[in-house]
Amino acid sequence: MEQKKRRASVEDRILIVDDEEVICNILARRLTREGYSCVAAHNGKEALRHFYKDSFSLIISDIKMPEMDGIELLKKVKAVHPNMLVIMVTAYPEIDLALEAMRLGAYDFIIKPADMELVVLSVKKALEKKRLEEELDVYHKNLEKLVEERTVKLQLAYRTLKKAYLDSVKVLAEAIDAKDPYTRGHSDRVRRMSLRITASLGFTEERMEILEYGALLHDIGKIGIKDEILRKPGALTPEEYQTIQEHPLIGVKIVEGIEFFKDKIPMIRNHHEHFDGKGYPDGLAGETIPLEARIIAVPDAFDAMASLRPYRSAMPLEDILLEMEKYKGKQFDPKILEIFLREKIYKL
Ligand SMILES: [Fe+2]
Repeated sequence: MEQKKRRASVEDRILIVDDEEVICNILARRLTREGYSCVAAHNGKEALRHFYKDSFSLIISDIKMPEMDGIELLKKVKAVHPNMLVIMVTAYPEIDLALEAMRLGAYDFIIKPADMELVVLSVKKALEKKRLEEELDVYHKNLEKLVEERTVKLQLAYRTLKKAYLDSVKVLAEAIDAKDPYTRGHSDRVRRMSLRITASLGFTEERMEILEYGALLHDIGKIGIKDEILRKPGALTPEEYQTIQEHPLIGVKIVEGIEFFKDKIPMIRNHHEHFDGKGYPDGLAGETIPLEARIIAVPDAFDAMASLRPYRSAMPLEDILLEMEKYKGKQFDPKILEIFLREKIYKL
């Protein structure tokens, strides 16, 4: 209680406005006894001068006063300080004015002759409400800060997690490429070139991310193909070629039970489809082939031709590009191939 009184005397300044000196004095004396610091003014104009110069926690104002009445004072105070607490003191015949003051944002009104206990109670209630509002405001600000800090931490954790996920899938892709030592780094090169194509097509970040994983995993089905066939130094027999052609569907079987891989399946299944419908495994043609699969098909074929094989050296770049041009609209989606060649994406 002692502490509360000390706090009130330091923080809570009350501006008392009444044209009757006696009322001002009675109010000031009583409120000073309660630990508040009081300043008196005898009309609205004088009160405004104090209000503009100093800071107050609360105003107690008469309504009928010379020069500037309480209603005018209330309007001017609220225009500058909408949350200012104002208690109106009024004679009973002016009750309509008191109600108007309430509509204009006054906190309370007291009928003259003012019961001092009622005034003190109203002042205490008003200042308590103000204190609670301020505390709530501080609490909200702290909460906002806390939420902001937590959001930053969460975003960081999400980015770290995403990177760890991508790194693990890259390791898996390296394991796929390691089945065939001549295609080391193939999946990652296909990933980088495919991403460049999607940038030209204006893919969203989310769609690019799906493609990134799909490109890394497109050959995951090769895990299920015998090494003798994958590493065979010479040309493949028709049966061996048929076995190799099973890798897209084997890939689908490997990933189909995992929720995260569901949206990458079209790339795993259809990256060997040809634009003219002569590819495998589904023989899809044109735009019925999922766009992501049509994208991957271009760098996939380029990188295969650019890689050294046991039975041939890497093809010169000009020959590869000529060969790819030859298959525009047959093996490759012409629009994707155009982007690939025009933007020299093969130079990545
Ligand atoms: Fe493949």
